[in-house]
Amino acid sequence: MKEKLTALIAEVEQFTAQKPEQVEEFRIKILGSKGILKDLFADFKNVPNEEKKEVGQLINQVKENAQAKIDALKAVFENAVNSTETIDLTKPAYPNEVGSRHPISLVKNEIIEIFSRIGFTVSEGPEIEDDWHNFSALNFPPEHPARDMQDTFFVESANGEMALRTHTSSVQVRIMENQKPPIRTLSPGRVYRNEAISARAHCFFHQIEGLYIAENVSFADLKQTLLYFAKEMFGEQTEIRLRPSYFPFTEPSAEVDVSCSVCNSKGCNVCKYSGFLEILGCGMVDPNVLENCGIDSKKYSGFAFGMGVERIAMLKYKINDLRLYSEGDVRFLNQFKGAL
Ligand code: DAH
Repeated sequence: MKEKLTALIAEVEQFTAQKPEQVEEFRIKILGSKGILKDLFADFKNVPNEEKKEVGQLINQVKENAQAKIDALKAVFENAVNSTETIDLTKPAYPNEVGSRHPISLVKNEIIEIFSRIGFTVSEGPEIEDDWHNFSALNFPPEHPARDMQDTFFVESANGEMALRTHTSSVQVRIMENQKPPIRTLSPGRVYRNEAISARAHCFFHQIEGLYIAENVSFADLKQTLLYFAKEMFGEQTEIRLRPSYFPFTEPSAEVDVSCSVCNSKGCNVCKYSGFLEILGCGMVDPNVLENCGIDSKKYSGFAFGMGVERIAMLKYKINDLRLYSEGDVRFLNQFKGAL
């Protein structure tokens, strides 16, 4: 009996299985109701009394070892099933979420669409600019204090000192240098200024420049174009207001406000109780600028305007902090899901 039991303990010890079914067969063979252990217990009464203690212990050991072996093998097979499930790299990720357009892109595209309906094309220029295109051609002479209106990032380059463009007005110079009037184009793009980052200022942002050059273009054309834009962008009831201003590249120059859509111009904290919100700068292109770019200022005239995309998006979506645009926080970005 003792030899039988020791052999059985060794058999349990050595048992392995390739499939879960083999574990179950093993269980039935050893522990099942007609299994080996059952017979051993039945034979136990024939064991001489002086051996009963030792044999009893061996029978219990078989039982315990077999159960432990079965539990261990079962666990191996269960984990194997789970692990193949978790590493099935061919399965599609779930939930399968689509991204959303950034509010800056949404507003930029909408502005381009509105102006394209009245014949404006889109043109782009480089973000790293030379002094001529960002300043000098636009009537900012060297050392002129107007250059301080825009804190500039300068960069060293093989062609001498360059700058990150401070405005998209640089693109109008490139267009006028390379095209003949009539010109009617929009230049969207990123611009950079050396400013401390806060809720109201950032070191980079986006502008859209507009330029219209032809014969007999007047200030009335500028006003009508901007009124059309404001109504399309902010609603039919929108009014605009022009305030005289100064830019080196336009004469006369103006800043344009739209009536506050939050309070219907009654006065609220968004418009600081003025009923109006500033959205852009504009003016008639200075004859010096036309001549700098090789366009005959006796024959042609034109207007230009420049607006901040972040600012328009703030008004449209009631966003109160510029930093939200560049932080990549999905809780902010998810709000624009579904917008095209
Ligand atoms: N470039 C100006 C700026 O960044 C915006 C601007 C004002 C553009 C008047 C224009 C304009 O074309 O006519 O502040």
